[in-house]
Amino acid sequence: MVLKKVGRVEEATEVSSGIYLLRISCPLKEPYPGQFVMAQPPGLEEIPLSIAGYSGGELKLIVAAVGETTRALCRMDVGDRLWVRGPLGRGFSYMSRKTAVAVAGGVGIAPLIYLVDARKREGLKTKLVAGFKSRVGGKLIQLLEDLGDVVIATEDGSIGAKGDAVSVASSMITRSSMVFACGPEPMLRKVVDLCMSVGAAVECSLERYIKCGVGICGACLIEGEEVSMRVCADGPVFDGETIVKLSDFDKLALDRSGCKVPLHGGCPSR
Ligand SMILES: Cc1cc2nc3c(=O)[nH]c(=O)nc-3n(C[C@H](O)[C@H](O)[C@H](O)COP(=O)(O)OP(=O)(O)OC[C@H]3O[C@@H](n4cnc5c(N)ncnc54)[C@H](O)[C@@H]3O)c2cc1C
Ligand code: FES
Repeated sequence: MVLKKVGRVEEATEVSSGIYLLRISCPLKEPYPGQFVMAQPPGLEEIPLSIAGYSGGELKLIVAAVGETTRALCRMDVGDRLWVRGPLGRGFSYMSRKTAVAVAGGVGIAPLIYLVDARKREGLKTKLVAGFKSRVGGKLIQLLEDLGDVVIATEDGSIGAKGDAVSVASSMITRSSMVFACGPEPMLRKVVDLCMSVGAAVECSLERYIKCGVGICGACLIEGEEVSMRVCADGPVFDGETIVKLSDFDKLALDRSGCKVPLHGGCPSR
């Protein structure tokens, strides 16, 4: 059983508008890239966050301030305490190929930062394509460029290559045998389809509403005709062969109350 531990905030820096880098000292079992933690500021909910780095007892998170709990985390000061439970879930098979392409959409960059860094430490090469809607802050760009071989893409072309992450990465994907991805599901669908068409292996980190984080409650179920997966315990990282069997992928998700609702608006299915 993974118990909650007390973490201490060492840094909370806004690296781009509404996106923060948190460094938290907290002794954890060495995580794999792609695993996540449940983080809980005092008096608020426990929420899942991908591990963006872990070294010497220090955890790195990249957090987009989108609601009550993420905003509270991003407002924390050095020395503040929070609960941390993890590492949880199954990560990327990050050592599997000598060269690989990693494709990130928005804050989906978080687990890929850890993946690229871990591969680099093992002498494995990864080309990272980080896509954003528009210009992002200099500190975030610096953080990404420190990883090495990085292409920044923006949909409006305000910095880096113009286009979404998948279009910009497509020629690299077609030449690659291994692709890792994290981001919005329409983006992941494009990545999976492209990889399938060129025979590249692909692993994607998915998001669903997570409660227990350890495979017990069923809140994070993503279903297909023949298989169902718990994102928190069977994932959050799934390979392309599994993803194409999940008919809920890029379509339906369980909400907070357990109702299955469309991911992209429209009428609930029940
Ligand atoms: C495996 C996984 C890894 C994630 N990694 C990151 C990360 O590295 N950085 C990051 O900024 N965000 C990450 N998220 C998303 C993050 O968990 C949500 O943004 C956060 O829970 C929002 O909480 P809130 O109270 O601030 O906002 P709310 O207003 O409560 O919610 C805002 C949005 O977040 C979703 N959300 C709320 N609670 C949860 C929950 N318990 N589980 C999943 N989604 C939830 C809601 O459905 C809603 O769409 C990850 C989610 C998952 C499932
Ligand atoms: S959140 Fe409980 S089973 Fe996944």
